[in-house]
Amino acid sequence: MKRAKNKTNAAFSESCISEHNILEVEQLRVSYERRKSGLFEKEGKTEILHGVSFSIERGEVLGLVGESGCGKSTLSRAILGLLPGGYEGSIRCAAGRPQMVFQDPYSSLNPAKKVGWILEEPLRLNAGPSGKDSAQARKERVLSMLERVGLEEKIADRFPRQLSGGQRQRVCIAESLMLEPELLIADEPVSALDVTIQAQVMELLMRLQREMGLAMLFISHDMRVVYQLCQRVMVMKDGCIVESGDVDEVYFHPQHPYTKELLEAAGIGETDERSGEDASEILSR
Ligand SMILES: Nc1ncnc2c1ncn2[C@@H]1O[C@H](COP(=O)(O)OP(=O)(O)OP(=O)(O)O)[C@@H](O)[C@H]1O
Ligand SMILES: [Mg+2]
Repeated sequence: MKRAKNKTNAAFSESCISEHNILEVEQLRVSYERRKSGLFEKEGKTEILHGVSFSIERGEVLGLVGESGCGKSTLSRAILGLLPGGYEGSIRCAAGRPQMVFQDPYSSLNPAKKVGWILEEPLRLNAGPSGKDSAQARKERVLSMLERVGLEEKIADRFPRQLSGGQRQRVCIAESLMLEPELLIADEPVSALDVTIQAQVMELLMRLQREMGLAMLFISHDMRVVYQLCQRVMVMKDGCIVESGDVDEVYFHPQHPYTKELLEAAGIGETDERSGEDASEILSR
């Protein structure tokens, strides 16, 4: 495959990262190749991310919001080193490979394997922080992770198709945590679930984040969910970060017209502020 000279795919480099940060992204540019597929399509490149810069501190939860197609998943794929065409700019990640929780728990679990096997797989392939485990130790770690994500032991003997959507997403979360990552990227982790299950899975994520001191990049369409979980938030529009800051600051003193639009669409507009209600009151309704 042809690759531009200045492109790199060396994610996970630890060089020159500030000790407070788990992730530093600088001037990230990503383009996709456009193949001529129809009468109107010309060959060439489309730039999707136009110089994105941000960092995540250790243990911090950073939200990323923005309309469909603005480049959120492209950003997460770049951080995970999953873009075949590479990127321009730099991504520095401390402490090993970040793990990912995807939107669709169906397609991200191997349908031919039982849950116990799926959860054991990362342990078989990679040594955890304390080195390779014996078969018995791996089994024990799988069972304790199942318990941690609120699933019964017997779930280990089931196939993904024998689980509910919420149970499947718990399995995905468990899988992503097996190697005790310090950074989790959650790309719309609850949007495929129905509302009551969404709340339960969100609660689980919040609890695990606290217990394990996980840093997280949390991608969501849902402004309320982001407010609940995140300390800081970035607003993306057409491949650029147009605003970022502490959630209270951004939600109640938005500067960019696009941020205001998103908040109004979610019913968290300026009218709420005028009514004198506290941020948490409005957002806990
Ligand atoms: N493999 C690809 N090849 C070409 N274009 C792509 C590819 N993947 C994504 N795109 C395009 O890049 C843009 C950003 O896509 P991306 O999936 O990052 O958006 P998103 O913000 O995650 O959207 P959503 O909220 O719907 O998940 C879109 O216009 C999409 O069509
Ligand atoms: Mg996406």
